[in-house]
Amino acid sequence: MQLERLLRSQGFGSRPECRALVYSGRVRVGGNVCDDPFAEYEAAGFGFTVDEEPWIFRKNVYLALNKPGNYECSQKPKHHPSIYSLLPRPVLTRGVQAVGRLDEDTTGLLLLSDDGQFIHTYTAPKKKIPKVYDVSVKHPLNDLQLSLLLAGVQLNDEPAPIAAVACEMRAERLLRMTVTEGKYHLVKRMIAAAGNRVEGLNRISVGGLSLPDDLPVGKWIWLEAVDLHRLRQYPPVCFT
Ligand code: URA
Repeated sequence: MQLERLLRSQGFGSRPECRALVYSGRVRVGGNVCDDPFAEYEAAGFGFTVDEEPWIFRKNVYLALNKPGNYECSQKPKHHPSIYSLLPRPVLTRGVQAVGRLDEDTTGLLLLSDDGQFIHTYTAPKKKIPKVYDVSVKHPLNDLQLSLLLAGVQLNDEPAPIAAVACEMRAERLLRMTVTEGKYHLVKRMIAAAGNRVEGLNRISVGGLSLPDDLPVGKWIWLEAVDLHRLRQYPPVCFT
């Protein structure tokens, strides 16, 4: 594929913009400036730099962000900065979207992609993808609250009770909870219905993919084939 087209496909702008980028000597291939926008390269595995920043050709964008608190998962945030402000411009140009939303005060693993099918799979209620949250609560936890969460709590505007798939008390006020739905304020509403109150919410995994321990808050990584494979591999969720 021509360099100009490759750059365009990777979010570096319109074809004239990509051509200008190449002519200005800001693009390197194999360490050397390539100033020919029509130079031909194999797309698969193609590595290049733009302004010294390394990139690899990717057919689609799959990212994991360690979402900070006080960021909104919206393109048009109202009260806080948008999570999209944490991503580089080429990724945004490709139309990357959050795979579901986390509340502005929720932290942790957020997937982003430009692959509509992928976004659909990981947000569709029918798919029952498990999401694990570490939940800090205001009041000491007790067995009754855990049993209510596991048995199912009735939330306003929901036709049937919603149950946690797993609940593990990790400390007096810290719960690890798995849910398979993606409804608005779900965990906060479930905890409230069980008689407690969420003070902090951190998502630690989606499907079989965990938030990497070494991913700093506010930073993101590309998801590679191995991560996407891991995402699909999770213990089957059992329903009674
Ligand atoms: N449940 C919530 O209440 N908030 C989130 O951000 C995610 C799940």
